[in-house]
Amino acid sequence: MHVTHLSLADFRSYARVEVPLDPGVTAFVGANGQGKTNLVEAVGYLATLGSHRVSSDAPLVRMGADRAVIRAAVTQGERSQLVELELNPGKANRARINRSSQVRPRDVLGIVRTVLFAPEDLALVKGDPGERRRFLDELITARSPRMAGVRSDYERVLKQRNTLLKSAAMARRHGGRSMDLSTLDVWDQHLGRVGAELLAQRLDLIAALQPLADKAYADVAPGGGPVALEYRSSIGAGADSVRTREELYELLIAALMEVRKQEIERGVTLVGPHRDDLLLGLRGMPAKGYASHGESWSYALALRLASYDLLRGEGNEPVLVLDDVFAELDARRRERLAELVAPGEQVLVTAAVGEDVPGVLAGTRYVVSAGEVERL
Ligand SMILES: Nc1ncnc2c1ncn2[C@@H]1O[C@H](COP(=O)(O)OP(=O)(O)OP(=O)(O)O)[C@@H](O)[C@H]1O
Ligand SMILES: [Mg+2]
Repeated sequence: MHVTHLSLADFRSYARVEVPLDPGVTAFVGANGQGKTNLVEAVGYLATLGSHRVSSDAPLVRMGADRAVIRAAVTQGERSQLVELELNPGKANRARINRSSQVRPRDVLGIVRTVLFAPEDLALVKGDPGERRRFLDELITARSPRMAGVRSDYERVLKQRNTLLKSAAMARRHGGRSMDLSTLDVWDQHLGRVGAELLAQRLDLIAALQPLADKAYADVAPGGGPVALEYRSSIGAGADSVRTREELYELLIAALMEVRKQEIERGVTLVGPHRDDLLLGLRGMPAKGYASHGESWSYALALRLASYDLLRGEGNEPVLVLDDVFAELDARRRERLAELVAPGEQVLVTAAVGEDVPGVLAGTRYVVSAGEVERL
């Protein structure tokens, strides 16, 4: 798929901007702080309902405005669609498809697909487990948009189960009535069912991603690998053994039973996909804490390139977004990366210095300056 037109209103630094886009490569070039990343961030938002830079929507709305609108025309094969999201910080966001009546924001997932690489991705390697869980879950959703429903079901069940545990913990501390454990049993089953589905998808994803990540790392950092992706599950279900959803359900339920006493004491759910991590290994060591800055950066890029490969291979060609990637690479690696991504259906690149973008990526160029986006 590719985006044929991007239109923003009160998004970040833009009061209004219209950007027609071609398939192939488009480079946004301009000095620091001119609004290049803001453009690709908007495209990424349509694909994930979140920003790769901030966790809340408020900074995405232009200072002084009270809502932002991101609109994109999208072409997939013969089919064209118009998606629109209205961001209302503090209130529910709104969404429309093809100007028709409103749909849930979640319903637009799958129309725009992106794989976005940005300097913030260093946190994939160096950051907390939550960063890696988000990476996995966003990719799961890109592979299969219905997983957005599973993810939000999991969040909801987890929240309700935690509320129940918290009130049990409070009651215990204040010598109140002990809780009715059968209610907890019901929530265990909900958590087990949805959690097992999420787990199964993550494990399947990691198995598919592993060889691609290894290959991508070799492309960006020749001779620097190998890389190994290993799922660290709070219920001991690693990617080492293939497990069915039923098995994962049983494991999750058993793990919940095992920690039940502590959970009631602490008032929080201690096992499940929300406590898991993806271990990133590099030459037999964990990348986190061991890898150099350059290696960590290459690793993050390799994970994104592997994601891109995976989605393309499955017929879900996404838009590839490379935010500020070329400045970090030496000339040889720049050329390699450029050759790798040049055949993509649509590649959006940002760079502060035009010369950093390799010649093979000659395509459409825009100059971004003080909120103006002008085609060269
Ligand atoms: N909500 C907002 N309202 C108004 N301006 C904003 C808002 N959020 C960010 N900005 C402005 O947008 C600019 C940053 O834009 P952006 O991140 O796209 O820059 P860039 O061109 O990618 O720069 P760099 O080359 O440094 O990455 C900053 O000047 C910032 O002040
Ligand atoms: Mg930028």
